[in-house]
Amino acid sequence: MTRARITIDRDFTIADVPRRLFGSFVEHMGRCVYTGIFEPGHPQADENGFRRDVLELVRELGPTVVRYPGGNFVSGYLWEDGVGPVEDRPRRLDGAWHTIETNAFGLHEFVAWSKEAGVEVMEAVNLGTRGVEEARALVEYANHPGGTRWSDLRRRNGADEPFDIRLWCLGNELDGPWQIGHKTAHEYGRLAQETAKAMRFVDPTIELVAVGSSSRQMPTFGTWEHTVLTHAYEEVDYVSMHAYYQEENGDAASFLAEAVDMDAFIDGVVATIDAVKAAGKYRKQVNISFDEWNVWYQRGLDTEDQPHKVAAQWREHPRLIEDTYSVTDAVVVGTFLHSLLRHGDRVKIANQAQLVNVIAPIRSEEGGPAWRQSIFWPFARIAHAARGRILRLAVDSTQVPTPKFGDVDAIDAAATWDEEHGRIALFLANRSLDDAADVTVDLRGLSAGDIRSAEVLTVPDDGDRHTKNTESEQDRVGLVPLRDVAVVDGALRATLPALSWAVVEFDVARA
Ligand code: AHR
Repeated sequence: MTRARITIDRDFTIADVPRRLFGSFVEHMGRCVYTGIFEPGHPQADENGFRRDVLELVRELGPTVVRYPGGNFVSGYLWEDGVGPVEDRPRRLDGAWHTIETNAFGLHEFVAWSKEAGVEVMEAVNLGTRGVEEARALVEYANHPGGTRWSDLRRRNGADEPFDIRLWCLGNELDGPWQIGHKTAHEYGRLAQETAKAMRFVDPTIELVAVGSSSRQMPTFGTWEHTVLTHAYEEVDYVSMHAYYQEENGDAASFLAEAVDMDAFIDGVVATIDAVKAAGKYRKQVNISFDEWNVWYQRGLDTEDQPHKVAAQWREHPRLIEDTYSVTDAVVVGTFLHSLLRHGDRVKIANQAQLVNVIAPIRSEEGGPAWRQSIFWPFARIAHAARGRILRLAVDSTQVPTPKFGDVDAIDAAATWDEEHGRIALFLANRSLDDAADVTVDLRGLSAGDIRSAEVLTVPDDGDRHTKNTESEQDRVGLVPLRDVAVVDGALRATLPALSWAVVEFDVARA
């Protein structure tokens, strides 16, 4: 039997929960926009062409902020193509994904959709093929009240009120040779600095994200952030991180421990930011926007789930990277969210990539249904339950061996304390593939009251760890009540099944 003892002390907290940690991402890629969130003519489409069934699932998932319009796509995108009368908008070749972009959906549509979904807009500018001028024009278009060239164009296009977009990404993955307009760190650092300055001259209230590394494996990781921030530290508020993980060669143990890599990646970026801060004697604190993360089967797969990485022919909204997620993937996604919470003092924004169809928690079919993937569940529950302060947990756990990371804790955990409502939300993953786990949670300075909810996602009785939700079987993987949980002698005790992710919400009072 696996065991873990977790100690919670009301005085050991990390930060207020940054609500923007529960972000998502809509890229003009594959079927994320077209036949994902937007499908005029679908039986469930509203008057704007937004799919109501997808919107309902998005609201249930609970993202707080959504990054748009890319991704690799943004590095060749002309934002003006996506505004104005739809019949006048050009059809374009999108080189990033080898796709025909109709521009039927653009900035106004995304802002309107975001209002319907109840999310904040996080807008990326193109610093691949474009620069300072087009970025500042876009800020003027979006945020200036009126009386100028670009703000009046927005008004003529039907939006009298400014969009008031606060969060802006200064390009996407420009450290990557695959990126249209790939740059050296020096080239990008100067461009980001000058673009940020010019965008802020238009609207001083905006928050800006500089491009960090596309992954921890990039040969320039570390030096990229250092050089970029050496140029742009004073002009930016966040540096981005991107990370995608997958199970390789059947090594489930290492895959289940990839949050160890995520923790180390974040710690490395924090150290680099702070080295630049110290050398520059800056008072201001730059933080992290982890604006792409997820499980993505990028390597070694050529199945029906993953028919194309890049479409073979120029087509409109081809199926791209529509990964179908398993029980194992859902447990791993839970641990990634734990890692983000554990770093909530420095990671202030995070976006799961992406929202619909493209490596996404929600799937939809053209003219057909929409459903929840397995990874929907940990995201939805954490996004709703994580409130108040993030607690710094002491976890003493049985270890599990992994080829990649050595011995790691079998139990991965995070927790938040909502003092106002007297509630703790505890999130737990059991990485052991074979053993159930007894977890004891000791409280210091707090006393436990009623258990308000306890749910677990695990291998279904008639399934295995690869079980997935599909169009024909949409509810194979989901949350079920966690029965074996109680408060005993002031401690919370729970038994988690092997390979599981769980959420327990319980009342607490100051002791
Ligand atoms: O999310 C899919 C792609 O992954 C994005 O377009 C890009 O930024 C990253 O490489």
